[in-house]
Parts: sequence; C-alpha cells; structure tokens
Amino acid sequence: MRQLLVIVLAAGEGTRMLSDLPKVLHQVAGRPMVSHVLDAARGAGAAQIAVVIGPDHEQVAAEVKRVAPGAEVFVQEQRRGTAHAVLSAREALARGYDDVVVMYGDTPLVRAETLDRLRAPLAEGAAVSVLGFRPESPAGYGRLLTEGGELVAIREEKEASAAEREIGLCNGGLMALDGKAALDLLDRIGDANAKREFYLTDAVEIARALGRTAAACEAPTEEVVGVNSRAQLAEAEAILQQRLRQRALDAGVTLVAPQTVFLSSDTRFGRDVVVEPNVFFGPKVRVEDGATIRAFSHVEGAHVGPGAIVGPFARLRPGAELGQGVHVGNFVEIKASDLAAGVKVNHLTYVGDSSVGANTNIGAGTITCNYDGYRKHRTTIGANAFVGTNSLLVAPVTVGDGAYLATGSVITEDVPADALAIGRARQVNKPGLAARLRARLSAGVTPKK
Ligand code: UD1
Ligand code: MG
Repeated sequence: MRQLLVIVLAAGEGTRMLSDLPKVLHQVAGRPMVSHVLDAARGAGAAQIAVVIGPDHEQVAAEVKRVAPGAEVFVQEQRRGTAHAVLSAREALARGYDDVVVMYGDTPLVRAETLDRLRAPLAEGAAVSVLGFRPESPAGYGRLLTEGGELVAIREEKEASAAEREIGLCNGGLMALDGKAALDLLDRIGDANAKREFYLTDAVEIARALGRTAAACEAPTEEVVGVNSRAQLAEAEAILQQRLRQRALDAGVTLVAPQTVFLSSDTRFGRDVVVEPNVFFGPKVRVEDGATIRAFSHVEGAHVGPGAIVGPFARLRPGAELGQGVHVGNFVEIKASDLAAGVKVNHLTYVGDSSVGANTNIGAGTITCNYDGYRKHRTTIGANAFVGTNSLLVAPVTVGDGAYLATGSVITEDVPADALAIGRARQVNKPGLAARLRARLSAGVTPKK
C-alpha cells in the first residue's frame, strides 16, 4: 500500500463571502466545507493529513482537530500562491510519503474514489497527476495543455494565449505528486508570472523538464465546484443534497418528494423508512426501520425508533430519543428527552429535559416547564401514565407509573404511582348569573347592529 499524505489548502480569505467566518467553515449539508474535504481525504486512506490555514484562523484549526484529530495544521503567514501554500507543510512533505495529494478546503464535493483515480498515474511512474474537468465557462481556470494524451503544462488564464484560452479542459485544482520528488519540484517553482505568485501548476512543466511525466484525469464538473461566494455555496449545497437524496433512495428509503427533503451527510436511515414532503434533517439524526417522518417536520440530533411516527409539523431537537412505535404529532417539540416505547404525544406539546415511560399518553397542549430563568430541570414521568390535556409540569417533578393527571392541572409536586392528581381550581356554577350580568352591563348601551 502506498502511503498517502493529503495537504488541504484552506488559507483562503473568502472576501466574496462577506462573512466574519473563515470561508472553509461555511457549511454544506450541515457540516463545514473543510470537514467534507477531510472526510474525502480519510476515505481515500490518507496516512497523514496536513491542513494549511491562514493567520488568525484558530477556528479552522479547532474544526480540523475536532473532525480529524490526527491531522497537522500549518499556518501560511502570507498568501503567496498555491505552491507557497503547499510548501507551508514542508515538515510533512519532508517525511517522504509515496503520494501527495493537494486538495482545496473550499472545494467540498470531491469524492474519495476520485482521489484514488487521481493517484493512479503515480503508481505507473508519473511525477504529477492533475484533475481536469470541463466547465460550461472556463474563464478564470487554468487550462490543461496536452500532447498525445500526456499533460505538458497548465496555463493560468492570465498567461494563456488566445488559442490556449479556447481549451475546454481545465484544472480542477486537485493535484497528486510523487511524494519522493514533491519537495524538489515545489522548491523549483518561482513567481515570475502575472500575479507574482508561486503557482502549484508550474510543477507540471518542471517535472517534464526533469524528464518525468505528468498525467491528467477527468472528473465530473460537479465534484470540483469551488465556493467563493454565497451563490456558489448554495450551488454546492444543491449538488450535495441531490447526492444525499440519491443515497437515501438507493438505500431503500421512500422519499415521497425527494427535492423537498433536506439531509445532512450523517443522516442514517433503517429499512422501509418513509419521509413525506418538506422535511429537514439537521446533523446527527438516526431513523430506524419502518419509521415515518411526516410532512413539514424539522429533525436534528434525534433518534427515531423503529415504527415511530413523527409529524406532520413536528420538531425534534437534539437529545430527542424516541423508542419503538412512539407517536409525536403536529406542533409538538421534543428536546433532550427519552420517550420509551409506545409513548404518544400527539398535539401541541413541549417536552424538554424529560423522560417518559412506556405507553404513557401525553394530552394536547401539555408543557414541561423545564426552565426557571436560570437552570434547566428534569421532568420524569413513569410508564402507563396519563397526562391530561393542557397540563403544566413544573420541573423538577416526578410522576409515578400509572398516574393520572387531570386535564388542565399545574403539577408542582411529585405524583405517586397510580394516583390521580388534580391541580386546578374547582368549577363553580352560579345559576342565572350570566343573564343578570348581561342586563347590568348593557344598561344604557345602544346595541350594535
Ligand atoms: C487555481 C489554479 C487553477 C485552477 C483553479 C481551480 C493555481 C496557480 N491555479 O487558481 O489552475 O483552475 O485553482 O479552482 O494553482 N490558497 C492558499 N494560499 C495561497 C493561495 C491559494 O491557501 O497563497 C488556496 C486558496 O484558499 C484556494 C486554493 O488555494 O482554496 C486555490 O487558490 P486560488 O487563489 O483560488 O487559485 P485560483 O486562481 O482559483
Ligand atoms: Mg479559486
């Protein structure tokens, strides 16, 4: 197995994003772009990953450490071009891996398989391999100059002749280098060009001048979509959503209207799951076999047990744990709560920081009052309990198994198992008082027409 070093260039300024957030931390499908790139690097079996960030980009370093703890982070103090950026990881390059692959942190859609294809020519003796693509409009990209199937040079747009600008095959930005020769090639690159930058792309001509060969392989345009603006971020999102929907469909999930379902790259589905239209899945969601997510639900950080039914118009927030066959209906919000098998919470309810035992029924309009303005408190409800409509459970509070809360109760004290709790004012009827009241109030008032 050839040892692979992946160098991710993430020192981009991202000025066109008009953002306080470093560009590579902008998210697609619920994760920062750089994390998608790191995933692809790991998927391709990288033995080591080096990420080159800009100065003052500690947030990027922190995200890298979070998703790829073994990755090294290097700072490029000044932006002096792509080759200069790669050389910021000199220490890693000097270890002499077999293959080096350069990726961009703002090009989040590259697949691990594509990295494998890109590396393949190195094993055949090429010193450099470049990922080409054919964009609709090649303006701004480097052009790949080939002769008899061999790559002879990459010409940046600024230096390209009119004839070279006619070439449709462009540099997608990804490059694989023979790891044993990489440092030597990179050190030979100069900055005598229109932008006074050290161009990584010069590695092709330099390798050939040293008697080595270079290769180009082609990738679908959608994989090399680079993000420089919010519009391109939205394009990347659309492409990734399309992939995730296809993956879900291929895995046997029914998406009634796939275009209206939004997924995260880590959304996990079991067998025979049905997702109705207009559902949004944030990060960290697992939906088990036979569950149904009904229309217009918003789900994140939640686990939906087998056969459960969620929605329509439900919101599951982080820490929602729904057991087998749980029903969560319309206008119900669940947060940081365990609902055991068979629990029903069907209408207009908030359950937060709670645990609810098996087969308990929670009536419409119930609220767990979990926050006193300073701290969150827990509500514990046993199994087979019945929470009457429009109850307020003022946490911390515990309701025992089989207990019954009368409709409209404000529960501030623990309720023992099998007890009936009534926490509301007693009703009083005053015969005839409504008529007398009306007569008194209407005296001297002209009735409205
Ligand atoms: C580069 C390629 C061009 C290719 C295009 C694909 C070069 C010289 N040109 O051009 O052939 O068609 O990408 O998108 O390589 N970066 C740093 N530090 C730097 C400079 C760049 O980290 O000093 C990073 C950027 O953040 C970005 C990537 O490298 O992620 C590419 O840099 P960019 O300036 O966008 O290069 P292009 O001019 O687009
Ligand atoms: Mg660019």
